[in-house]
Amino acid sequence: MSTVSLESFRAEIDRLRADATAALDAAGRDDAFEKARIEFLGAKSGRLKAIQKLLGGLAAADRPAGGKHFNEAKEAITAALVQAQSRLAGGVAEVEAIDVTLPGDPVRIGHLHPITQTIRRVQEIMARLGFESVDGPEVEDQWHNFEALAIGAEHPARDPLDNFYLAVARGTDPLLLRSQTSTVQIRVMERRKPPLRIVSLGRVYRPDTADATHYPMFHQVEGLLVEPGTTMAHLKSVLRLFASSFLGGDVHVRFRPSFFPFTEPSVEVDMEWGGRWIEMGGAGMVDPAVLEAVGYDPATVSGFAFGLGVERIAARRYGVADIRDFYKNDVRFLEQF
Ligand code: FA5
Repeated sequence: MSTVSLESFRAEIDRLRADATAALDAAGRDDAFEKARIEFLGAKSGRLKAIQKLLGGLAAADRPAGGKHFNEAKEAITAALVQAQSRLAGGVAEVEAIDVTLPGDPVRIGHLHPITQTIRRVQEIMARLGFESVDGPEVEDQWHNFEALAIGAEHPARDPLDNFYLAVARGTDPLLLRSQTSTVQIRVMERRKPPLRIVSLGRVYRPDTADATHYPMFHQVEGLLVEPGTTMAHLKSVLRLFASSFLGGDVHVRFRPSFFPFTEPSVEVDMEWGGRWIEMGGAGMVDPAVLEAVGYDPATVSGFAFGLGVERIAARRYGVADIRDFYKNDVRFLEQF
């Protein structure tokens, strides 16, 4: 006696197959997968097992067809199970490969070179004293590097052994890598009328032998102030204010008589800090001949100028004994600033 018709048996199996594959396909990494496995393929009370039991209720003649339909459904559900399993295993493996909670590889972040830091600091201090930062070219002509600064053709400072002249010489006016930033004084005065307060920081080049206080490429800070009534007292005040701000604390500035062709009078500037005097650069009142050369009237305006070595003041500030260390590119040294 058959208790189950083949038709309803088949319909039952088709519903189970549809439910099972849908549930397994949708299962995520939560417990839905395990629930679906137990519900459909559980060995004791799974729905597939329950349907298998109904096979016995089919008429004997219908059993082969019912059994075939059952086996196809079982295979399809098992295949969906395997597929879901490998999909979830892949997902898990991927997530484990990138553990977002790990600290990660540290990125080494650099910082500005101590000479660049010094340049910015000097610009900042001078800006507070009203000096505008300006730039000039590193490749210069004879006029700006020498002649306008009253350094005549016979002056030893123009000796080819004391300068880097360029091979692309322009006849009687060879170009050279500037040997001082005083060139910028001329370039600015040629373009502008007084009153002027400028500061220029940049590279200069001299074929000096490198030692603890010399390098063939170094930086200078050039200051220029041109206003009616300017005196040496103003020069000293500005240098003293600059030195105190840059080095911190009470710094004494000392002038020693000197000579530069473009300043009159001229001085060497020393600064006393930590019980020692150190030479920082040259300075003086802009020579009236220089003012005339750029079209100013020396009877109505006067000015002062100074040029300091950036490596020297940086070495002083940071307690560096040898300025060559600034250019060895040894990270262990540079990291200290
Ligand atoms: C000058 O270059 C003048 N232009 C300075 C000046 C400007 C005077 C304005 C008057 C008015 P001097 O050659 O002395 O001067 O150089 C100035 C400073 O540059 C020196 O005191 C020193 O601090 C620095 N310096 C000179 N040569 C080197 C070098 N090879 N390496 C590192 N620093 C140097």
